[in-house]
Amino acid sequence: MKKFVFYAKSNPAFLSSLEKEFSHFGIEKCITLTKIRLNYIKFETTLPKVWNLFAYSRLLEDVKIEMAKGVSASSEKSFKICLKSIPFQQFLPIEKCQDYQLPKIKAMCFRSELFHEKMIEKITVNYLNKYANKEYFDNEKKLKVNEETVKDEERLRDLVEKRENLKELPRLDIVFQKDRGIFLLNMTTTPLYKHGYKIYKNWGTLRETYAAALIYESKILNNRDLYLWDPFCGSGTILIEALMILLKRPIRNYLTLKDEIFTELPFHDNKAFDVFLKEEKTISKKQEFDILLERDIHLIGSDIDSKSVDSYVKNCHFANLYKFKFKEDEEKKLQRERSQIVINPNIYHEKVNKIIDIFMGDFESIATNVVFKYDKKKFTIFSNIPYGESQEMSERVKIKSLYKRMGKFFRKYSNFVGDVFIIVKKRSKKDDLNFQNLTEMKWEVISTFFNNGIEVEFLQLNKTKIE
Ligand SMILES: C[S@@+](CC[C@H](N)C(=O)[O-])C[C@H]1O[C@@H](n2cnc3c(N)ncnc32)[C@H](O)[C@@H]1O
Repeated sequence: MKKFVFYAKSNPAFLSSLEKEFSHFGIEKCITLTKIRLNYIKFETTLPKVWNLFAYSRLLEDVKIEMAKGVSASSEKSFKICLKSIPFQQFLPIEKCQDYQLPKIKAMCFRSELFHEKMIEKITVNYLNKYANKEYFDNEKKLKVNEETVKDEERLRDLVEKRENLKELPRLDIVFQKDRGIFLLNMTTTPLYKHGYKIYKNWGTLRETYAAALIYESKILNNRDLYLWDPFCGSGTILIEALMILLKRPIRNYLTLKDEIFTELPFHDNKAFDVFLKEEKTISKKQEFDILLERDIHLIGSDIDSKSVDSYVKNCHFANLYKFKFKEDEEKKLQRERSQIVINPNIYHEKVNKIIDIFMGDFESIATNVVFKYDKKKFTIFSNIPYGESQEMSERVKIKSLYKRMGKFFRKYSNFVGDVFIIVKKRSKKDDLNFQNLTEMKWEVISTFFNNGIEVEFLQLNKTKIE
């Protein structure tokens, strides 16, 4: 089967985890491309392997297919000439271009003589229009001209309708490093970091891909059993990702993959895709049967904010978690163990299924009233805590006291909890909101990454240093 070259994107901090995930999916020999500031992994493989990534990779944020590489241009003129060598007809639906919008074109030049990125974009748009020799390939521009000049309202309405019916094409990136360039076309128009269940989210929420990467980094899933508590759970991303990884659930249903734009591009292999879809259908049917856990899992999410709890509950619905059915004998075992615990009736409690519970309340109250009641189990704490981003003084005071309170809590209850993993804003030692200072505890930095433009740290509590 024909092989293509692809570029896969993830958060730069998690590229090596993505590489590990790739080897798990049988994609070896990856080259991590950070040199040209692309933050991509480059790999060569067949289309079915990439469809499999779309369905199962929890870290992947974007995949581009290489249309051309090693293109050489150092001036406007030579760029125009080099366009003639790009096999656009193999990658874009030129024949049926009247049904599509023009792809968004993004040029990036690093230390290149072709420093004028907007010029590259414009030349490519013009070239594609001329190349396709079709009226509508640059519909946006055409419409603008018509809005100004055409008085005929009916014709204008016709044009607007046509534009709205046009399908979106994936983005085309043109990247030049010195005088060498590559042309990359996105495979999808929907971002791959969205795992489909997070319809409701609140502030400070973690991307699904980041939550998955941190779960891998923490190695918490290597243990036989998993008792996990997220005391600041927000919309529940960490817990939902952990469960989906454990149960090897697909991220994208095969039916949604059918609608992705890559299926309409000329290089798409319809025959092989049909085989892939059939296999996926069989797998998804199997997953609807009773789930065999093979290990003991209990996931608890809690948050002080009612809106967050509500969004977590709704996301669990969207992820179909309420419908999970476990093998009969396991159901009985879980039922027996968990029904023995009496929970304070004043605490809001939502039972999603036999392994997920959601509570509303301050972390300390949930610890003493709920989590510590499961006395045979030490729960691992894994949480993306408030960052104290707001400049408002009252907010800073609140965060300060929250971090101090967390420090006291971990010191007092260190024997009651398992490992502790925290995601918090990175701050200098002198900053009065520095988490490590305020908790007065020793934390190991596992990784540092940018979450929504904020530099954050993934910390693990060093329990050996607790006096
Ligand atoms: C950064 S957000 C968590 C986002 C979450 N990881 C997600 O991906 O959706 C922090 C959460 O901490 C909650 N929170 C703040 N103070 C709290 C407290 N004292 N006890 C429990 N939760 C608290 C907030 O309501 C907020 O939902």
